[in-house]
Amino acid sequence: MENGSGARELVGKRALVTGGSRGIGAAIVRRLLDAGADVLTTARSATSPVPDGAAFVEGDVRTRAGAEALAAAAQETLGGVDILVHNAGGARPHQGSAAIPDEEWQDALDLNYLASVRLDSLLTPGMRERRSGKIVHVSSAAVPTSVAPFLHYTAAKAALENYSRGLALELAPFGIRVNTVSPGRVATPGGEATREQWASLDAAPGQSDAPAVPLGRDGRPDDLAHAVLFLVSDRASWLTGSNLVVDGGEFPRG
Ligand SMILES: NC(=O)c1ccc[n+]([C@@H]2O[C@H](COP(=O)([O-])OP(=O)(O)OC[C@H]3O[C@@H](n4cnc5c(N)ncnc54)[C@H](OP(=O)(O)O)[C@@H]3O)[C@@H](O)[C@H]2O)c1
Repeated sequence: MENGSGARELVGKRALVTGGSRGIGAAIVRRLLDAGADVLTTARSATSPVPDGAAFVEGDVRTRAGAEALAAAAQETLGGVDILVHNAGGARPHQGSAAIPDEEWQDALDLNYLASVRLDSLLTPGMRERRSGKIVHVSSAAVPTSVAPFLHYTAAKAALENYSRGLALELAPFGIRVNTVSPGRVATPGGEATREQWASLDAAPGQSDAPAVPLGRDGRPDDLAHAVLFLVSDRASWLTGSNLVVDGGEFPRG
């Protein structure tokens, strides 16, 4: 047994993880490698060291061309994709919804929603042929309580969650499972930078209402990585269309 999971349960599996150069994505890459998978990851630049043992290709997932280049790199490097984790995401907070520039609404949609749609459309045909595959979309626990500075971000993640549920139903007959994980407040370079930007806004709208984390600490990247490893493992073989909220109890859902 390793990492409290089911030993090297992913030997022979080929995994593509977006945004694996730091934060939650890097932790996911490490967990999948530990479980025996071959892993390719991507980011716009590898300024932080990519986990040892993972293949890396530089790229931007926000465009159709970026998705096509990444799918081609996955074919060349891995020979196909059995496990697809859409982790790259984020957005810059603004004073309120009217202050969010048009291009940042588009950018939030491209990065947090359409990047997944495009890459899924390129990689699920191979999964359908093999009648097997696992897809995980990384959303945010903040979706139901979206606050003004982040409306572009949470609206895009809400679309992602809705899309993920529909895709799960579409692909279930082909043996492909599709699930979402929704992180709460996790200590990562991107998360910390975003919260600093939020705190620097005038009156920091929404922030004073942020609830304490009932389990008493912020999340660690590995808290999410363990959840993703479970979802792509055979231990989750009867789970599809679900949204696993990993947030220390911060954002209760009905
Ligand atoms: N941390 C939190 O508190 C929190 C809470 C809720 C949800 N989430 C979600 O969890 C996921 C990971 O967040 P994180 O905090 O780990 O973020 P992070 O520390 O900012 O890391 C993001 C990763 O994605 C890559 N990336 C960003 N834009 C990209 C693009 N256009 N194309 C390709 N790669 C790109 C980054 O590398 P480059 O910058 O070099 O491209 C980096 O590897 C995101 O989807 C985020 O929305 C995080």
